[in-house]
Amino acid sequence: MRTLLAVVCLSFWSGVILAQSPAASVTAPGSGARNTEFQPGKLWYDTEGNLINAHGGGILRVGNTYYWYGEKRARQQEEGVTVYSSRDLYNWHYEGLALQPSPQPGHDIEQGCLMERPKVLFNQKTGKYVMWFHLELKGKGYSAARAGVAVADKPTGPFRYVSSFRPNGHMSRDMTLYLDDNGRAYHIYSARENYDLRIARLSDDFLTATRQDTLLFSNHREAPAVFKTGDRYYLITSGCTGWDPNQATLHVADNLFGPWKELGDPMRGPNAAKTFGGQSTYVLPAPGRPGSFIFLADQWNPKDLKDSRYLWLPVQFREEQPTIEWLDRWNLGFFKPAGAKSAGR
Ligand code: DGJ
Repeated sequence: MRTLLAVVCLSFWSGVILAQSPAASVTAPGSGARNTEFQPGKLWYDTEGNLINAHGGGILRVGNTYYWYGEKRARQQEEGVTVYSSRDLYNWHYEGLALQPSPQPGHDIEQGCLMERPKVLFNQKTGKYVMWFHLELKGKGYSAARAGVAVADKPTGPFRYVSSFRPNGHMSRDMTLYLDDNGRAYHIYSARENYDLRIARLSDDFLTATRQDTLLFSNHREAPAVFKTGDRYYLITSGCTGWDPNQATLHVADNLFGPWKELGDPMRGPNAAKTFGGQSTYVLPAPGRPGSFIFLADQWNPKDLKDSRYLWLPVQFREEQPTIEWLDRWNLGFFKPAGAKSAGR
């Protein structure tokens, strides 16, 4: 009887301890151990042992270094754009605030504004790094619906705010940038209260939108992420349900300006119909593996936005169609060519 009681008590307390311990992390903070894999949805610490705070982000590759730009979030408020660097995509060094909100009252990016979904490109002609982001003015909710632009001499910044506007008069909320092989760059953005998804070619210096600005489709989509393999462009978007997850959609086109053909939901596995609890933000070409891509999404926590988690998952081509399958953990060995010994699954 005494033994039975002890077993019951032990399993009760271990259940309590398990339930109270934080979700497992990629590596424990301060352990000094280096990450060797991705664990989607788990706590992800930088090389100094702090949680990575770079939401709605995008990645820029410069030589062998990757830069991850994202929204720095407090519980709710947005505190600027952070930048982290990495050579292996698993371990990220905090480089600081790439773009700081302005202390000046009335400034477009004054403290308290929203700078969401920052994306950065390098402009070969000007030698500058150019950041675009979704700007909402302080105290105005989501009504300003502007694109913001900032520029820097180095990938780590500091970025200088240049201007903000509605491209060709269109509302501009969720967005991404895409740099094509020919050096031309594009802004893909949710317009008309998010009912329209549009594309605008950027000016040669990438600082503004040209009048080459076209409606892609009117399906009420946001969170666009573009990638290209061969001659085909792919576009992943989410529905519009605030911070709540919803079903992703994949489109394909031979031309960025369309027509875009809808291919359905590319997600596979548990909770696939809700994008595994996440929302697309970027698709990154995998290092050294042409034709391989990593899908990046945010698993938003609206009660505490800084605790929103990151979902990084490999894009797999099944019958030439991109699919994204849930994996608890994986590493870049996943992308080894077919026939080679697979690792990290
Ligand atoms: C969904 C967008 O994708 C996010 O970037 C953010 O703007 C939230 N809506 C706000 O509700």
